[in-house]
Amino acid sequence: MTVTATYHTPALLAESIDGLNIQPAGTYVDVTFGGGGHSRELLNRLGTRGRLYGFDQDEDALANALPDKRFTFVRSNFRYLTNFMDWYGVPAIDGLLADLGVSSHHFDEAARGFSFRFDGDLDMRMNKKSSLTAAKILNTYAEEALADVLFRFGELRNARAIARAAVRERANRRFRTTADLLAVLQPFCAREKEKKQLAQVFQALRIEVNGEMDALKELLQQAGGLLKPGGRMAVITYHSLEDRMVKHFFRSGNFEGEVKKDFYGNVQSPFTVLNNKVVVPHEAEIARNPRSRSAKLRIVEKK
Ligand SMILES: C[S@@+](CC[C@H](N)C(=O)[O-])C[C@H]1O[C@@H](n2cnc3c(N)ncnc32)[C@H](O)[C@@H]1O
Repeated sequence: MTVTATYHTPALLAESIDGLNIQPAGTYVDVTFGGGGHSRELLNRLGTRGRLYGFDQDEDALANALPDKRFTFVRSNFRYLTNFMDWYGVPAIDGLLADLGVSSHHFDEAARGFSFRFDGDLDMRMNKKSSLTAAKILNTYAEEALADVLFRFGELRNARAIARAAVRERANRRFRTTADLLAVLQPFCAREKEKKQLAQVFQALRIEVNGEMDALKELLQQAGGLLKPGGRMAVITYHSLEDRMVKHFFRSGNFEGEVKKDFYGNVQSPFTVLNNKVVVPHEAEIARNPRSRSAKLRIVEKK
């Protein structure tokens, strides 16, 4: 792994950790450990009896594991949260933090193919041991399936046309690098919107490679079950698909966002939403850390 200057600068750090209302002797999980910025702050607020489990599916994050006996690093996808908590003998938790998506480390490592700014292999796997890569999607998915990925996860209106062009291209040569993909995308990008449109395509492929929407769904369901009454969950999202899923689940306990009421009209949700208005970074944070600009934080308390 290439060592980048900063692995990751945590977004909405104070807002998310304050929102968890840390109990010094509590048990917490940071399901997206990354560079450990949020975890470090969380540990600062725990007493000697407190415990913190940090999950990350990327083995590179292990290099940031905190040398503290209250901390355990779990190199796994967070979709296995309940299995691992069972394994560690933890029946319930006081709080959970998820700071979703990829880290700056991913974007800055050219070889991993997450960024259209660099030439690298079309890889995009957070877990280097998994088998699906962006190249595999582009080289093997049927045209309709590829269009579906671009439309659902990139919200691209010209998804069908891009998929058609990709399928035409691969009849001549296989997709291997980000440059191969950029060559196909160029005619579809209006100059003034080029960066946004490229980012949408890369985002769509990344979400598919890493099964991000399914993993998030499983995480939310399992976290809901693990939290103690009064326990809190804070989730930071970076695009509207994730944010919508979290918002619906927090409001209603289901992914359709259908709020059920009892006979007396009381909302029957497993959670109390603590911030009806989503929390976003202040201008000063965005100036300091431009990658935080799309961050959105939502917090709930288990009833
Ligand atoms: C935005 S970064 C988190 C940064 C972290 N909060 C910090 O302060 O450094 C997201 C991290 O979560 C990891 N990740 C994303 N999805 C995951 C999943 N389904 N399971 C486990 N780790 C995941 C990524 O590998 C990445 O390191």
